[in-house]
Amino acid sequence: MTERPEETAGSASAAGPAVGRIAAYPPEEDADASTVAGRIVLVAGATSAAGLAVVSALTRAGAGVIAVGSNAERLRALRAAAPAAVTYQCDLADFAAVTGLAAVVHAEHGPIDGLIHLVGGWRGGGGLAGQGDDDWDFLHRNVVTTLRNTTRAFNADLLASPAGRLAIVSSVSVDNPVAGGANYAAAKAAAETWTRAVGQGFRKAAAPAAAVVFVVKGLEGLETELAARVVALWDTDAAALDNTRVFLAP
Ligand SMILES: NC(=O)c1ccc[n+]([C@@H]2O[C@H](COP(=O)([O-])OP(=O)(O)OC[C@H]3O[C@@H](n4cnc5c(N)ncnc54)[C@H](OP(=O)(O)O)[C@@H]3O)[C@@H](O)[C@H]2O)c1
Repeated sequence: MTERPEETAGSASAAGPAVGRIAAYPPEEDADASTVAGRIVLVAGATSAAGLAVVSALTRAGAGVIAVGSNAERLRALRAAAPAAVTYQCDLADFAAVTGLAAVVHAEHGPIDGLIHLVGGWRGGGGLAGQGDDDWDFLHRNVVTTLRNTTRAFNADLLASPAGRLAIVSSVSVDNPVAGGANYAAAKAAAETWTRAVGQGFRKAAAPAAAVVFVVKGLEGLETELAARVVALWDTDAAALDNTRVFLAP
């Protein structure tokens, strides 16, 4: 159980109230349909270097950003670095907590237009025999469960948005899996498949929404590029974006 900051309350598995204030976005009717300005974007797993880059780029572009993480200290550091975003502490692996988060977000900000899922992590090594259950549980929880929970909780928002967008960051290991990284590659493959299924739901509903998979080998040094690509998700028609797999390389 993580320690919570004084300004949040409740159990560590539930979403605390917003910390900060979204102030820099125009009301929905003023939003330009072809940009992210005016959109509400939730960044799930926002406290890494990539998360900070994405949150900062989105706020600079005029989006209202809801940044979510599970660790109070890291959220505090994120608020200091990106004060235009609001932050919520939530264990995104806990579906009840995520539905609680969605209720609070809806009450305080309305429906979201974008979900950028960044919760990840790595476990590997030891050949195939070394692909242990603990490592699988960690990867399944972080990579797959948090994605399932957040997309299920916010799918109706993305379907109803005039410009709904979902994006994840996957790995080249899905295309070139190795025995010593089988757990990781399998979890990432599951996340990609889940994301494409969400996109099929968008198409079936004829919603102007898109699900996109970014693919990297490593993220270090690519954080700014990823952030720019996330902002640009709103510059392209949903139909052209949905079900795409976009490689990012230095
Ligand atoms: N790093 C790489 O080289 C690399 C390579 C290929 C793909 N990727 C993918 O790119 C994405 C971003 O990578 P990253 O390295 O920035 O990710 P990360 O550090 O593994 O995760 C992003 C954030 O998720 C938060 N988080 C973890 N568990 C959570 C939970 N249960 N509930 C809420 N938040 C949680 C963590 O913050 P708190 O602990 O503060 O909650 C963390 O800051 C991931 O999907 C990753 O798999 C990364």
